[in-house]
Amino acid sequence: MIVAIDGPAASGKGTLARRIAKHFGLTYLDTGSLYRTVACAMLADGLDPHDAEAAHHTAETLDLKRFEDAQLRTIAVGEAASVVAAMPKVRQALLELQRTVASTPPGAVLDGRDIGTVVCPDADVKLFVTASPEERARRRHLELQAGGDVQTYDLVLEQLRIRDRRDAERSEAPLKPAEDAVLLDTSELDIEAAFQAAVEIVSGKR
Ligand code: DC
Repeated sequence: MIVAIDGPAASGKGTLARRIAKHFGLTYLDTGSLYRTVACAMLADGLDPHDAEAAHHTAETLDLKRFEDAQLRTIAVGEAASVVAAMPKVRQALLELQRTVASTPPGAVLDGRDIGTVVCPDADVKLFVTASPEERARRRHLELQAGGDVQTYDLVLEQLRIRDRRDAERSEAPLKPAEDAVLLDTSELDIEAAFQAAVEIVSGKR
């Protein structure tokens, strides 16, 4: 079984996807971390994330184990990740890996922006998880604080809006719900309620 979970930054899709994978005994792949690893490697190597050739080379020779999760979760890396994620050759370089994980038994839950539309258009279940920008900024702000990254809420909200725009307006695999995706708005739901709603959707489609 393949479950595709897409949605904007900090919508709660990562937490949901991880728990859904565990619940149904599936592999979990956070596809955003692939783009973040490309971005983080470029910054660490003194390369400009806007350099498409360098980004392509970095994606093709990627060492997925090079960074700790905390290093990938900073605002700077998130920002650079959304820049490299707009490059067709970077997306192409990461596509095969994602499809291989998805098609390996017993199946997988993948979360990202284009899983239901591009990576796994034939996924058994497609969820599009959203929440208001303010609620997502509140969550991301808390997450960053917990990791010791001190930023103001206003800055987090502003960065989120910039990233939303870039992810949704790019020509290559833009963020948008697949036609057959089920929408799940988590603005008013805590993680437990969102998880229960997602389990019902997945169970119903099985
Ligand atoms: O979900 P995230 O914040 O970790 O994603 C980081 C960036 O990667 C984000 O700006 C969008 C991009 N991304 C993408 O374009 N396609 C995906 N499948 C996953 C993430």
